[in-house]
Amino acid sequence: MIDFVKKISVSAGKMAIAEFAKSGSLKLDFKSEKDIVTEADRRIEDFIISEIHKKFPDHDIFGEETGKTGKGSEFCWVIDPIDGTTSFVHGQPFFSVSIALQKYGATIAGAVNAPKLEEVFWAEKGKGAFCNKTRIHVSSRDRLLNSVLSTGFACLRSDMKENNLPIFNKILPRLRGIRRYGSAAIDLSYVACGRLEGFWELNLKPYDIAAGVLILQEAGGEVCDLRGKQNYPNDGILASNGKITEEFLKSI
Ligand code: IPD
Ligand code: CA
Ligand code: CA
Repeated sequence: MIDFVKKISVSAGKMAIAEFAKSGSLKLDFKSEKDIVTEADRRIEDFIISEIHKKFPDHDIFGEETGKTGKGSEFCWVIDPIDGTTSFVHGQPFFSVSIALQKYGATIAGAVNAPKLEEVFWAEKGKGAFCNKTRIHVSSRDRLLNSVLSTGFACLRSDMKENNLPIFNKILPRLRGIRRYGSAAIDLSYVACGRLEGFWELNLKPYDIAAGVLILQEAGGEVCDLRGKQNYPNDGILASNGKITEEFLKSI
C-alpha cells in the first residue's frame, strides 16, 4: 500500500510544481481574513481523490478542501493537498502534499512530499521512516539549549483567544534557534530526520499532521499534546525527538 501512497504523492507533487509556476495568477479564496485557499489546492485534492477512488472506490476520504465522506469503510485517506498554502502563494519552497491512510482511525501509511525541495518523506507502520531512499531517525540532542525547534501560528490566523505567543515567549530564550517554515507536515518530517529537535503548534487539524506524525513515530520520535497527554491536535501538539519533551512541557 505504501507504494501506492508514494505514487500518488509524487504525481500530486508534480501537479503542485506546475501550479506553483502560476501561483502569482491563481485565484484566491478566503476561508477567513488571513486563511487563503487557491484553485490549486482544490485541483490537487480532486486529483488525489480520483486516483484513490480508481483503485479503492469504497474507501472513505477526509480532505481539507472537500471534507469527510461517510461510506463507513475501515479505511480513510487523510489529505492535505497543499500544506503551506501561504508559502505556495508567496513563491516560497516550504509547502508539501500530505497523504495518510488510516485503518480504523490508526495511520498505517503516510507520505509528505515537498516537491520544490525534491524530498518525499514516507513511512509504513512498523517499517521505519524514509526521506526519498534514505532511512531517517530523530536527533539525539537532549537539552533545549542545544536544540532548534519550529512552530506555527494557526491560532493567530484563526484569531483564537488562547494563542501561541505566551508559549513562544517562554520557550524562545531557552533554545539554540527557532524556525517557522510554514508547513506543519514539513515541520514534523524535519523532526523525524533530525533537522529539528521539536515542533509545537496550537489549532492544527488532523490533515495537517496525520502523515507527519506516523513518519516521526517511525523515526523514533514522540508526539503529545501541550499537557503531555494524547489529545493532539485538539489540545495542541508537541512533536519531538523524545529527549526534550519533559523540559519543554516544564518550561511552559
Ligand atoms: C498550514 C500550515 C502551517 C500551519 C497552519 C496550517 P495550510 O496549513 O501547516 O504551517 O501553521 O496552521 O493551517 O493551511 O497551508 O494547509
Ligand atoms: Ca495544512
Ligand atoms: Ca492545505
